[in-house]
Amino acid sequence: MTVRIGVLVSGTGTNLQALIDGFTGKTHAELAVVISNKETAQGLERAQAASIPSVYIDHRQKSRTHFDTELVNCLREHSVDWVVLAGFMRIVTPTLLNAFPERIINIHPSLLPSFPGSHAQRQAFESGVQVVGATVHFVDGGTDTGPIIAQAAVSRREDDNFDDLRDRILKVEHRLLPMVVSWAVEGRIKVNEGDVSVDLPEGDTRSFWGD
Ligand code: GRF
Repeated sequence: MTVRIGVLVSGTGTNLQALIDGFTGKTHAELAVVISNKETAQGLERAQAASIPSVYIDHRQKSRTHFDTELVNCLREHSVDWVVLAGFMRIVTPTLLNAFPERIINIHPSLLPSFPGSHAQRQAFESGVQVVGATVHFVDGGTDTGPIIAQAAVSRREDDNFDDLRDRILKVEHRLLPMVVSWAVEGRIKVNEGDVSVDLPEGDTRSFWGD
C-alpha cells in the first residue's frame, strides 16, 4: 500500500524539496499534495515542478478553525495519511490535530525544548549556545511542544555569523526530515502517552551530528 503524505508549507520549501528528492520514485510513499497559506510560496512552485498537486488556501479573514477545516477537507480530498509541516508558519488547532491523531509532524530549527516559536535560529545565535540543531516532533496543541522523534546537532564555529549558522542548521534539516518521514510511512514510529519509540532501520539513529 502506498502511504500518502500531505506537506504544508509557507515559504521557500527547501525541506519540501528534500522530501521530493527523497521520495520521488519510491513505491511505498507518495507526496500526495502540497498546501500553502501563502499564494507566492516557492514551495508551491517546487510542488508544481515535481508534478505534485499544489493548493493555496488563504488564511486571512477567517478564524484559525475555519482555515484548519479547509486544510482538513483538502488533505482528505487527497486521501492523505500523514501530514508534514515543513516551514508552515501557522498555529494549528484541534480541528487539524483531531483529524490526523499522531499523524502530524513538524520540523523546527532548534534543539527543542530550547528555542521554541519563531526565529529559533536567531534566538539560538543570540543566546551564545555552542550546539544548535533541528528537531522533528509530533505536533500537539502547544508551540513546538509535541513528543520529540529525532534531532540533529551542529556545532557553532568561532567565526560563524548568523547566516552561516542558519544555513548549517538548514542543511541538517534536509537530512533529518526525509529520514523521519520514511520511518513514519514505514510504520516504525510508535507514540504512547507522549513516549516515542522508533523501530530503527539499520544504520539510522534518532540523533546525529551535521558538519
Ligand atoms: C526551516 O528552518 C524550518 O525548520 C522552519 O522554517 C524554515 C523553512 O525552510 N520551520 P524551508 O521553507 O523548508 O526552506
